[in-house]
Amino acid sequence: MKPKLLRTLAALRRETARWRAHGLNYAVVPTMGAIHSGHTELVTQGLKRADRVITTIFVNPKQFAAHEDLGKYPRDEAGDVAKLGKAGCHAIFLPSPGEMYPHGFATTVSLSGPARAGLEDKFRPHFFDGVATVVAKLFIQTGADYAMFGEKDYQQLKVVTRMAKDLDIPIQVVGIPTVREEDGLAKSSRNVYLSQDERQQALAIYRYLMNAADRIRSGTNPQTAARAAARKLASLGFKVDYVAARNAETLAIPKDSGEPLRLIAAAWAGKTRLIDNIPV
Ligand code: PAJ
Repeated sequence: MKPKLLRTLAALRRETARWRAHGLNYAVVPTMGAIHSGHTELVTQGLKRADRVITTIFVNPKQFAAHEDLGKYPRDEAGDVAKLGKAGCHAIFLPSPGEMYPHGFATTVSLSGPARAGLEDKFRPHFFDGVATVVAKLFIQTGADYAMFGEKDYQQLKVVTRMAKDLDIPIQVVGIPTVREEDGLAKSSRNVYLSQDERQQALAIYRYLMNAADRIRSGTNPQTAARAAARKLASLGFKVDYVAARNAETLAIPKDSGEPLRLIAAAWAGKTRLIDNIPV
């Protein structure tokens, strides 16, 4: 199927109004493009819940810090459209930066709670405000019934779920398990930056998260297991931002034994920052 390309808010509204007039419901899949099978899995899961799926592609300048990779973030519109079409996506919203943030734009969604867990927010202080601002706009612009997000970005999933609830945006945020390469590496648009050696090294993040989860399940204190995983990764040459065991819902530091836990990590392989997480 060839998805319909919508480049303006007016075109988006015309299309979604048509769907509503036919009594159809729809899911939105927000992305920054560089589509891989993690993204298309969100489309597949959206199609299971809704009559129509719209993917958004927008490399959001507000969530990149000055020193980050906004300028060189991988862009391939034709490739993305082909992959999304193959997955069964009905429409793609591709706004320009000027369409999204017209001259005079002056509003930012400011967050606390899961956005201040001391994980990604500690290393990328403005990141979630930028994400929440664009995601709130996409939720309102599309008026979708469902929003599909990957567990790959676990803190982001919790942040946008909380934001939609707090702002009374009538959308159901659905989290989808991480799609991995055959050897376990989480699929990511940033994996293309990895050299062959770094690609091999990158695997260790998932491996040591699994190892820490095993140890926690057999009685090791979660913080002890997380610290040991961080030390192992550092000894393999990673620059480790964090490995943390957190409450799977609130992302707070766990207090009781028996609460649901998530192991979450961020580490640099060379110049590439990788993130991953797994349930315990
Ligand atoms: P992006 O990194 O393009 O990711 C878009 C969506 O795909 C996110 O929900 C992300 O969690 C999901 N995703 C990425 N890799 C995945 C994988 N291996 N398995 C399952 N899902 C995966 O996240 C963003 O864009 C942006 O911050 C965005 C939400 C679009 C706001 O700009």
